[in-house]
Amino acid sequence: MSSTVLQVSGLGVTFPGLFRSTSILRGIDFEVAAGEVLGLVGESGCGKSMTASACLGLVPSPGLVTGSISIDGQQVIGRPESELRTMRGSRVAMIFQNPMRSMNPFFTLGRQMIDVICCHRSVSRLEARSLALSDLKAVRIPDAELALEKYPHQLSGGQIQRALIALALSCRPRLLIADEPTTALDVTVQAQIVSLIRRLADEKGLAVLFITHDLGIVSQLCDSVAVMYAGRIVEKGSVEAVIDHPLHPYTKKLLGTVPTIGRKAHELVSIPGNVPDPALVPPGCAFRDRCDQATDICGETQPPTSMFEQDHTVLCHHAVRARQITESQ
Ligand SMILES: Nc1ncnc2c1ncn2[C@@H]1O[C@H](COP(=O)(O)OP(=O)(O)OP(=O)(O)O)[C@@H](O)[C@H]1O
Ligand code: SF4
Ligand SMILES: [Mg+2]
Repeated sequence: MSSTVLQVSGLGVTFPGLFRSTSILRGIDFEVAAGEVLGLVGESGCGKSMTASACLGLVPSPGLVTGSISIDGQQVIGRPESELRTMRGSRVAMIFQNPMRSMNPFFTLGRQMIDVICCHRSVSRLEARSLALSDLKAVRIPDAELALEKYPHQLSGGQIQRALIALALSCRPRLLIADEPTTALDVTVQAQIVSLIRRLADEKGLAVLFITHDLGIVSQLCDSVAVMYAGRIVEKGSVEAVIDHPLHPYTKKLLGTVPTIGRKAHELVSIPGNVPDPALVPPGCAFRDRCDQATDICGETQPPTSMFEQDHTVLCHHAVRARQITESQ
């Protein structure tokens, strides 16, 4: 039976302004179970990183966070900063796009790992060193003993990202949030990091929220996927449901942008138009100016959530019709 590690309900993030406030997230719902990798995808500016920040209790001031975020049964929103700090690095860990920036260039990898382990667990520095060593071996860093003695600039991009994953995991978190962790890496190293994350989910029951632009990675790595547009999740479900049988016009268009073998670069489709500025999201469906399926109702009311089997949810006025068309094909 799956146990929920991260549960996000009705999450909103709003920044107050001089004349009016701007809503960056507008009611986000999703959950990630132990051993599950959920991919969060969408174009630049749709709110992926803000969702991750909210889960870590790191929304910058004066952002107002509403709704509910629970990690392992503990509420994040409204929790004192001191308790959030303990939660980060113990129950939940994060890795980012630019691994080099997440490390202190003046300390060896070993020193940084030992400091983090000692900060979160009551062990001696000697015990922490051996824990760090076994974590580096678990992420298959070649010559882990030697790597402990190296400074960040002496490690490759792929080794640093592995080391950061080891660092993130050294305090045995239940949840890993990875915000575009492979974007700065070459394709071969990217594939190694993806398979490492998959293995950690399978073997250690780690729940993973994996943020990416890359739908190709989603289909290789993830169990489920949530597609974001203008601060909302517009389609969500298993990878098979969403990638193989997308129902939302935005997901269909995003999938149209994925390069496939045999399709030349100049044939790639880009979605005309842009994600609306959060301060200027139109009433009704935020996607309607870019949607070739839009009808009058799309400009009038916010689309309801339609639910299909296996928790496949779609935020579109015409989802049921899209589903009937798919079934008849
Ligand atoms: N501190 C802030 N104050 C006000 N608005 C912000 C702040 N940080 C981000 N935003 C806005 O929130 C929206 C979502 O930003 P976010 O960084 O979450 O996008 P993203 O989906 O992660 O994009 P990318 O794929 O480019 O990383 C953007 O319009 C951004 O300008
Ligand atoms: S609600 Fe209308 S505009 Fe929005 S995605 Fe569906 S068909 Fe397109
Ligand atoms: Mg981002």
